[in-house]
Amino acid sequence: MPTLFDPLRVGEIELRNRIVMAPMTRSRADDAGVQPPYVAEYYRQRASAGLIITEGTSPSPNGLGYARIPGAFSQEQVAGWRLVTDAVRPLGARMFMQLMHTGRVGHPLNLPSGARVIGPSALAAAGQMYTDAEGMQPLPVPEAMSAADVAAAIAEYTQAAKNAVAAGFDGVELHGANGYLLEQFIRPNSNQRSDRYGGAIEGRARFVLETVEAAIAAIGKEKVGIRLSPFGVFNDMPLYDAMESDYAYLAQELQKRDLAYIHLVDHSSMGAPTVPQSMKDTFRRVFRNTLILSGGYDAPRAETDLAAGKADLIAVGKPFLANPDLVARWQGGHELNVPDMSTFYTPGPQGYTDYATLGDAVGT
Ligand SMILES: Cc1cc2nc3c(=O)[nH]c(=O)nc-3n(C[C@H](O)[C@H](O)[C@H](O)COP(=O)(O)O)c2cc1C
Repeated sequence: MPTLFDPLRVGEIELRNRIVMAPMTRSRADDAGVQPPYVAEYYRQRASAGLIITEGTSPSPNGLGYARIPGAFSQEQVAGWRLVTDAVRPLGARMFMQLMHTGRVGHPLNLPSGARVIGPSALAAAGQMYTDAEGMQPLPVPEAMSAADVAAAIAEYTQAAKNAVAAGFDGVELHGANGYLLEQFIRPNSNQRSDRYGGAIEGRARFVLETVEAAIAAIGKEKVGIRLSPFGVFNDMPLYDAMESDYAYLAQELQKRDLAYIHLVDHSSMGAPTVPQSMKDTFRRVFRNTLILSGGYDAPRAETDLAAGKADLIAVGKPFLANPDLVARWQGGHELNVPDMSTFYTPGPQGYTDYATLGDAVGT
């Protein structure tokens, strides 16, 4: 039976353990989406993970909808990310960049000039968004994407995937979860298009699958993963009757594309609806490559799910944020630092690169 500390081959890379650092937006980039040098130190501190998935990183100026999130479309952004992979690689962790296009979950005040809030349909998500300039603002009605906008967005994901590899990453994770652009196409409440990218699930899944195919053509199937959140409701994505069959269709279609991994989100520990075990089982049965589960894991539950064959890898968010040496702490059964929510998204090193390690605790 596999344990958390056993290696695993994923695509063409070897992970030295089965603990994945989950993607976490930390909002330390500058207004041009460029990561400052201390971001490399944050990831370097966490390089005992088997795999690190970066914070959501936009493939397009239009996808920089939150304040201070990074991009992967300009030379300066790629150079900033190169500092990160250069710092992490010698320590052994492998890294995938999460490509996150915010779509309709963005605000013009957060976007660079000339960029647009776009989505599958001209339907605003309920809720508000923080802006540095004017605080909380209602989410705007996005521009419905034209056929040309759809093609341009796929091309942007493709170029960003190439840029990630050029920056030294082992691959990319397409962010198809949590209410951002790819999920906005999947879900019927945000996608009411009448063209081939809307309607039944075959239409609503098309943008996702074409993006997957384009990324695979650009960098190789062993370098492309995807994150999905079936039964997720974050960012105004309500539950609906055909959810389970829609995502079963996606699982089958992704299996046909043979990409490196599927990463499932379950935010029930944060108060979101439970993801039925039958849904996770469908992904496990239908998709034969690596399956990553995430959400609310501690070490015992992670070991139990790995031993039961429910997943190949376990991704960990908040505990990794607050414990740079999480792998050693889990391995030794040590206590964990508590995450400080007030510094999750604030600029600067505080609450970012200053969490204590076990070595600090004993004064070494
Ligand atoms: C500060 C913070 C930022 C996050 N940003 C992202 C993100 O950029 N992309 C994403 O897919 N999930 C994001 N998440 C969700 C985490 O990847 C993870 O699914 C969630 O925290 C649940 O796992 P945990 O219980 O281990 O923290 C974020 C979570 C936190 C706490």
